[in-house]
Amino acid sequence: MWNREGLKEFIKQKMADYLFVIVSNREPYVHTFQGEEIKCGMPASGVTMALDPVMQSCGGIWIAHGSGDADKEVVDAHNHIQVPPEESRYTLRRVWLTKEEEAGYYYGFSNEALWPLCHVVYTRPTFKSADWETYKKVNELFSRTVLEEIGDKKAFVFIQDYHFALLSRLIREKNPNCILSQFWHIPWPNPEAFRICPWKEEILHGLLGNDLLGFHIRYHCMNFLETVDRMIEARTDYEKFEIIKGGKSTRVRPFPISIDFDEASSRGQSQEVEIEMRRLRKTLGLGGQIVGLGVDRIDYTKGIPERFRAIDLFFEKYPQYKGKVKFIQAGPLSRIHIQQYKDLNEELTRLMVEINFKYERGRWKPIQFHRSNFGKKELMALYRLADFCVVSSLHDGMNLVAKEYVASRADNTGVLILSQFTGAARELESALLVNPYDVDGLAENIRLAIEMTEGEKQKRMSKMREVVQKNNIYRWTGKVLSELLRFEFPEG
Ligand code: G6P
Repeated sequence: MWNREGLKEFIKQKMADYLFVIVSNREPYVHTFQGEEIKCGMPASGVTMALDPVMQSCGGIWIAHGSGDADKEVVDAHNHIQVPPEESRYTLRRVWLTKEEEAGYYYGFSNEALWPLCHVVYTRPTFKSADWETYKKVNELFSRTVLEEIGDKKAFVFIQDYHFALLSRLIREKNPNCILSQFWHIPWPNPEAFRICPWKEEILHGLLGNDLLGFHIRYHCMNFLETVDRMIEARTDYEKFEIIKGGKSTRVRPFPISIDFDEASSRGQSQEVEIEMRRLRKTLGLGGQIVGLGVDRIDYTKGIPERFRAIDLFFEKYPQYKGKVKFIQAGPLSRIHIQQYKDLNEELTRLMVEINFKYERGRWKPIQFHRSNFGKKELMALYRLADFCVVSSLHDGMNLVAKEYVASRADNTGVLILSQFTGAARELESALLVNPYDVDGLAENIRLAIEMTEGEKQKRMSKMREVVQKNNIYRWTGKVLSELLRFEFPEG
C-alpha cells in the first residue's frame, strides 16, 4: 500500500540525484490582498489539490502562473517563494503573464478551444488564430522558465494539462538531457471530435515531445493513440501503447489520479471539523434535514442545471419530502470572462429561484447555492453533513470530489450518486451510477439514495473506501515516477 512515508522513502532512494520540476498553469498557493493584509489561499483545482501533497513529499520546483494580485509582493528576486507558507517544503516559481497573454492563452485557446474540444458536452469550441498565437507564445515563455530552472541538472519535468500541449517539444529542442512527462487531466476525445481543431497536427506533434504521456483511463489513451494514428505520420504501437515519431518514442499510459485518502479521512474525524459541522448545521439551517450536496467549480461540464432539474422533478414526484430534504450546492465561480460561464451562472440563478419559489414553505427552501471557494475544513464539514452527494458531470476526466466525499465517510454512511461519464465511475462501481442527461433517472436515484437502508449504504461505502484508500495519490505518483525511472538520461 502506497502512503506518504513510502513515497518519501522511494524518492529518497531513487530520485535523490535528480531535480523534480512540476509545471502547471494554476499555482498551488495564491496570495491576494484583503484590504491591507495579504492572505494565502489554495485554489479550487483538482490538479493542484492532488499534486501539492506529492510536492510536499518530494520537494523540488513547481512552476506556475502567478495569478494572485499580491503574488508579486511575496516572491524573492528569482520569483521564488517557499511553500506551504507555514512550513517550507518546496519552491514555487511564479511566471508573470500580461492581461493580453492571459486572455489569449488561458481564457482563449485553453478554455474556449481545448476545454470544450476535449469535453464532449456539446458546447462548441471557438478557434481563434490570435488565441493560438498567444498560446504558442506563452508555451515558449514557460519553456524558457523551465530551462532556466533546470540549468545543467539532471531533471524530471512533469507537465500538467491542456494549457501546455507544446511545452515538452519546446524544452526538448533546447535541452535533450531531461526526462519529460505530461499528464492530461481532462478527457481525450475520439478522433472524430478532435479532428475539427485547425492546429491538431501541431498539438499532437507537441505532445509527442514527451517521453511519457498520461491520461486518467485506458479509454482516453486509446482515443489518443487513434487520433495520432489518423492524423499524423507516426508509428502507433497498440500492443505496447507507444508512439514512435522521428525515431523518438512516447509511452502512453493510464494513471487514475486520486487524493490523499488517509489525510482526508482523518481530517474528517478531527475536532475542528466537528466544530465546523455544528457551526454550519446552525448557519445553514440543516437541523433535522436530510442533506444533499454538490461541490463543483461552476462549469458547464459539471451538469449542475441537470442536477437542479432533477431536484425539481424529485419534489414534484415525491412531495412527501418537502420541508425534509435540503440540497446545498457549493463551489466557486470559474472562468467568468467566458460567455458560456456567464450564461451558466445566470441559468443556475434562474433555476434555483424558480425551484425554490415552487416548493418553499416558511423558512425552508429546497436549494441553497453558495458560490465561494470553501476551505479544506469547511468542505470536509459539508461532506460529513451530507447524507448524499451528487456528482453529475456530463464528462469529466476523473472528478476528485467523488473521492473526497468517500474519504470523509469514515463511518461508512452516506451515498454517492455519480455520473457514469466521469473517470471516477470506473473505480467507484458501488456508487449509484447515473446518466446526468436522464433527468428522470437522476431524480429517481436521489430518492433511492434517501430511502436506501443503512446496511446497503455501509456495504457500498466501505467498498468504495477500500478502492480509494488503495488507489491513493501516493500510488498514482509512485506509478508515474516508477515509469519515469525506466527511462535513461541520454548522457548515460
Ligand atoms: C480542471 C483542469 C485544471 C484546472 C482546474 C481548475 O481540473 O484540469 O487544469 O486547474 O480545472 O480550473 P482553472 O481554470 O480555475 O485552473
